[in-house]
Amino acid sequence: MIRRTLLVAALSALAAPAQAQTYPTRIVTIVVPFAAGGPTDAVARLISEAMAKDLGQTVVVENAGGAGGTIGADRVAKARPDGYTILLHHIGMATIPTLYRRLPYDPVNAFAPIGLVTPVPMTVIARKDHPAASFTDLIAWIRATKENVNLGNAGLGAASQLCGTLLQYLLQTPMTAVPFRGTGPAMTELLGGRIDLMCDQTTNTTEQIRAGAVKVYAVTVPERLAALPDVPTTAEVGMPDLAVTIWHGLYAPRNTPEAVIARLSRALQAALKDEKVIGRFAELGTMPEPAERATPEAHRAHWMAEIAKWRPVLQAANQYAD
Ligand code: MLT
Repeated sequence: MIRRTLLVAALSALAAPAQAQTYPTRIVTIVVPFAAGGPTDAVARLISEAMAKDLGQTVVVENAGGAGGTIGADRVAKARPDGYTILLHHIGMATIPTLYRRLPYDPVNAFAPIGLVTPVPMTVIARKDHPAASFTDLIAWIRATKENVNLGNAGLGAASQLCGTLLQYLLQTPMTAVPFRGTGPAMTELLGGRIDLMCDQTTNTTEQIRAGAVKVYAVTVPERLAALPDVPTTAEVGMPDLAVTIWHGLYAPRNTPEAVIARLSRALQAALKDEKVIGRFAELGTMPEPAERATPEAHRAHWMAEIAKWRPVLQAANQYAD
């Protein structure tokens, strides 16, 4: 039996480089660890079209939401390391290692980074009939309303939850978190007035803000956005520490052949130069990462630095990590 296992291992090792040279020969799946219709889904669908053009293969998006993005990440962590199942995730890949003490996968070593995709700003928004006319009014309302504030997010590890945790920590005021499988479904509840507040990415909020379907109070980046020129920054409204940009990256399962990772990185870099991608990102308040950051090396360096950066912040704010 051992001889047969060794023979199979030797043959598959010999086959790996050949497979890598012809990769991709069938559909590539990008797993999004949040529900359809949210910001992560929007980014995935945009780059998948452009990557398909470069790869000469269909690239499909599969939504696997729940548990703050860890269910979808686990799906890819356990996928065959052949480049046909990859993960699009965001800053959660840097916060989940601190936020979760037990996971069914190794949140760092189960993945091979492919490249960074886009750094997305966040917006503090509320239901459109909210009484607060300004960020200052909103803070006063939160302080007065406390646990009766329904704050939507996408679960522990989500960008929306991270921003909500920071807001509660900076105000030292606990609110009631209402988790969803993504901020697509959370936005539906906000539009219906069934939750009060959310901190969500511009890739999901810009069009609702422009349509007047939600109230917006601030953007969480140092400079105002060309896509939302009338929205003040959190620094302008007196809360400079509510500063968070949601970076996104593509990941393959560990042990995916280097040549496959390199081919995927090249397809990602081509997608980030695609005019339609650039234009749509700009409409949604973001932009593509430069080609030199859409590489495995740059992605890994940024990812490791972000894990180290957020660990102390999350440990300090952990009473709000709902
Ligand atoms: C989040 O982390 O809040 C996600 O971006 C939500 C989503 O993509 O649905």
